[in-house]
Amino acid sequence: TRRVIGDILALHAHNGLLGQDLLLPVLHAIQDRLGFIPPDAVEGLAQSFNLSRAEVHGVITFYHYYKTTPPARCTVQVCRAEACQSMGGDALLSHVQQALGCDLHAHTADGGFALEPVYCLGQCATAPAIMINDAVHARVTPQRFDRLVAKLST
Ligand code: FES
Repeated sequence: TRRVIGDILALHAHNGLLGQDLLLPVLHAIQDRLGFIPPDAVEGLAQSFNLSRAEVHGVITFYHYYKTTPPARCTVQVCRAEACQSMGGDALLSHVQQALGCDLHAHTADGGFALEPVYCLGQCATAPAIMINDAVHARVTPQRFDRLVAKLST
């Protein structure tokens, strides 16, 4: 992790200097590479940019885009738009929350799953739909969801 961040800082520096205007591009690059901004990187970033730790922390927490915890291994997105809601989307979401033990906008305790809402996956005619990582699944029943998750862990 340290080396990745060191390489990113070196790549962005001009003549060895890092202007404060480069903080956002550097944070973006770190998140692109690592999936999050490790909290223990804040001190080194503050030194590199000649800012206080509080200032760097403030920037990271101001932008919701930046994550400070590692991404879940698997992201489940449940469609909350109208067509899916009218085809049992609410019941499906309740089942998914219960099956994963996780609320919307949250991670499971072991970091295995993140659960997010999504608003239309282009599968309205075959609702309800969900997306697991990059794969869209249509006509998802609670039973089918359980089978999809079981497959992930084999
Ligand atoms: Fe759910 Fe379109 S409303 S896929």
